[in-house]
Amino acid sequence: ARLVVLVSGSGTNLQALLDAIGDDPAAYGAQVVAVGADRDGIAGLERAERAGLPTFVCRVKDYGTREEWDAALAGATAAYEPDLVVSAGFMKIVGKEFLARFGGRCVNTHPALLPSFPGAHGVRDALAYGAKVTGCTVHFVDDGVDTGPIIAQGVVEIRDEDDEAALHERIKEVERRLLVDVVGRLARNGFHIEGRKVVIQ
Ligand code: GRF
Repeated sequence: ARLVVLVSGSGTNLQALLDAIGDDPAAYGAQVVAVGADRDGIAGLERAERAGLPTFVCRVKDYGTREEWDAALAGATAAYEPDLVVSAGFMKIVGKEFLARFGGRCVNTHPALLPSFPGAHGVRDALAYGAKVTGCTVHFVDDGVDTGPIIAQGVVEIRDEDDEAALHERIKEVERRLLVDVVGRLARNGFHIEGRKVVIQ
């Protein structure tokens, strides 16, 4: 399967996929064909360049309207003919055009146990709430914010001494393994979505 990975930051989830694929994409069942971002100058793009991958950047401020940005992101992604799009720390909400093309084959990873703590500060919100466990969720992207059908989740304990950074790092250790496992299974086995249920063959 051809993967386009979308990033906005350090790209450690992207790196985990690249490391898992290594030099044997056939064994993993997928290869990353391009990496897209919503901003320049991030480590995620450097990781892609180091891996010799094509990259593209679609910045919201370069477009007159959000819809134009969404259409540009969809077009730039479609140019690489992905079978699956992986939003790995991509911090923008995609819109109608993007979902028209990739809905049902775009997965996102979120650092909390959805439906708890959706949005851009899931780690901070769980900590502030006083939750005792949190974790990460890999789900299909739909037209909501972190509301699509859940594929897999991993649980991470919250410790008394945790601050946001320490907790997020511990979540990311689980998240990277979960994402690599899920993307590989989706790619190798095929899948279908029945309402809120994801069936991986
Ligand atoms: C991940 O925890 C992702 O769930 C969240 O931001 C983090 C991105 O990490 N949205 P990285 O860019 O993959 O290192």
